[in-house]
Amino acid sequence: MGPSQLAQSIKKAKIRVMYDLAREMDDVISLTVGEPDFQTPQRIIDVSNHYFNEGLTKYTPNSGLDVLKEAIADTYEPILGRRVNPKENVMITVGAQEALLVTMQVTLNPGDEVMICTPHYPSYIYQAYICHANPVLVEVKEENGWMPLVSDIKAKMTDKTKMLILTSPCNPTGGEIDRATLEEIAELVRDKDMLVISDECYNTIRYSDTPFTSIASFEGMKDKTVVINSFSKAFAMPGWRVGYAIGPAWVIEQMPKTHDVTVSCVPAPFQYAAAFALKNCDAEAAEMLASYQRRRDLVFQGINNIDGLSAIEPKGAFYLFFNIKESGMTSEEFAFSLLKQEKLALVPGDGFGEAGEGYIRLTYAADEDSLKKAIERLDRFMKNNR
Ligand SMILES: Cc1ncc(COP(=O)(O)O)c(C=O)c1O
Repeated sequence: MGPSQLAQSIKKAKIRVMYDLAREMDDVISLTVGEPDFQTPQRIIDVSNHYFNEGLTKYTPNSGLDVLKEAIADTYEPILGRRVNPKENVMITVGAQEALLVTMQVTLNPGDEVMICTPHYPSYIYQAYICHANPVLVEVKEENGWMPLVSDIKAKMTDKTKMLILTSPCNPTGGEIDRATLEEIAELVRDKDMLVISDECYNTIRYSDTPFTSIASFEGMKDKTVVINSFSKAFAMPGWRVGYAIGPAWVIEQMPKTHDVTVSCVPAPFQYAAAFALKNCDAEAAEMLASYQRRRDLVFQGINNIDGLSAIEPKGAFYLFFNIKESGMTSEEFAFSLLKQEKLALVPGDGFGEAGEGYIRLTYAADEDSLKKAIERLDRFMKNNR
């Protein structure tokens, strides 16, 4: 007896490798993990404490509390141009991570193909493995503004394709899929027997005035799309583990079953706090966004001023995925040498799939002082290693 094939197939994320190495060293600047550096707004914590004190320490219904589902339906009404039915179309999960997994668990069969735009959020691949489905990667390139080409998606489609995962804004690239491309993708999948997962975890962390577009808002996509979202990024609540899925009733109604046998439910006070955040905390979210935007500008300009490094302007999320190809190093060599020589921990791009080779991910959800120092260290590193 030994570890299962599944356990052996899951590799430790390079984000965690770099993060753990950084923790063992003194004076390291670590821009590795993708989480807000802000504390959860106090008003949200207060709501949670209130409900704990009120004695809400029991299980909740598996699919979540109505109060939160209603708030989600309200939040998504202007995005989708329609109000989803909170009871039939919304499921509360343990972070977006579990929302992604349960969506796959209740819709995929062994051998089904899941198309993933890459460089990608690493969990997608392993979640497909858990469901005995096969990931099929569609490469997304920097020269296309980190947007997938519809022709590339089309070229990889087979009669086994049952799912396409879109991440916009994207972790790790900071790219966003524009409305015209989303429309073309909708056109492509509309008549196919498949689902789109639209991972919208960063839909409120965007640096443009145009409204966010969800592929689920297009005609014919209501029954074809499962929207995934989270409280981790928008409201700086990564440790609370609250996320959700919005989708067709036949998908959502199956979710409480796999959710029940794995995690049962999200703690009630956290669900009340999340509902409060959606209804009352736009101002706090906007303040954090303004700060991310200043930091994005700082690192974007800083990197492009360094000889041998370059990046295109991130449109959303809080990552800069910069090009190191001129250095002649692999992304892993670059990241390890940088940590050793300059005590700066960043994540090698190949941790997000082979398509990320030649790039490094920098998380700019950190204070400006650390970001300025990080740029200085990168500058010195490039000068010393040319
Ligand atoms: C694209 C993307 N999807 C999903 C998640 C999972 O988020 P959560 O904390 O809600 O599980 C993350 C977290 O980094 C992410 O970047």
